[in-house]
Amino acid sequence: TDGSVEIPVVVNILYSNAAENLSDARVAEQIAVLNADYGGTNTDITKIPTEFQTVKAGDVKIKFRLANTVRKSTTTTSWVRDTMKKSANGGIDATSPANYLNIWIVGKVVSSDGRTILGYATFPESAGLWNDGVVIPAPYFGKTGAATNFNLGRTATHEVGHYLNLRHIWGDAKCGDDLVADTPTQTAENYGTPSYPLYNRCSGKNRSVMFMNYMDYVNDAAMFMFSAGQKTRMQSVVAASGARSGL
Ligand code: ARG
Ligand code: ZN
Ligand code: CA
Repeated sequence: TDGSVEIPVVVNILYSNAAENLSDARVAEQIAVLNADYGGTNTDITKIPTEFQTVKAGDVKIKFRLANTVRKSTTTTSWVRDTMKKSANGGIDATSPANYLNIWIVGKVVSSDGRTILGYATFPESAGLWNDGVVIPAPYFGKTGAATNFNLGRTATHEVGHYLNLRHIWGDAKCGDDLVADTPTQTAENYGTPSYPLYNRCSGKNRSVMFMNYMDYVNDAAMFMFSAGQKTRMQSVVAASGARSGL
């Protein structure tokens, strides 16, 4: 083998109408995006600015294989955090979460303050627990028919990054720390489609931030890289001594 770890994936689909009951083709499309983005074979990887080419991850050596798709119809159209993960709530129980990456697809997820969210994930601290995995509403999963600006499957790329221990690139604070040395500190998250270079000042330095990293908040078309430091962090989670060695 090439030393890659292959993560088996269970996709749990809770649908309240036909559009939310995503097709097998749409699921396959999403798995292919994960394999391209984590394998460094995404075609837009050529857009990485020269200054960041020396720190790009290339092949993260983590692959994804669809193990099963579980489908269940529901009358629930809007879900709050983790309720979709319990059959007692009308959701779907995780399949052996220590051994499979579980992804739940629902129509819509709202946060406690009422905002609609693109997705969320558990960190490795939750490895193997009933709620371990990734949640992505149907409009942001896969490509064909997905929502404008979020239709390249990169919400899953981002959420699986969290699942594999990556923090947001701005460290969720002004000039915060994402615990990765080769991603420049940045003042805040970025949205939309920024153009390079995008400067902000942290610790007196004026240099471009790596807004094209999957762990920023830009549109799907504007994000196309992990860094080498992020690869190291993800690899240690799936290693024999890591929190997710059971995958
Ligand atoms: N806001 C979400 C999170 O914090 C996901 C953002 C995904 N961005 C994207 N362009 N698909 O996990
Ligand atoms: Zn995030
Ligand atoms: Ca950093």
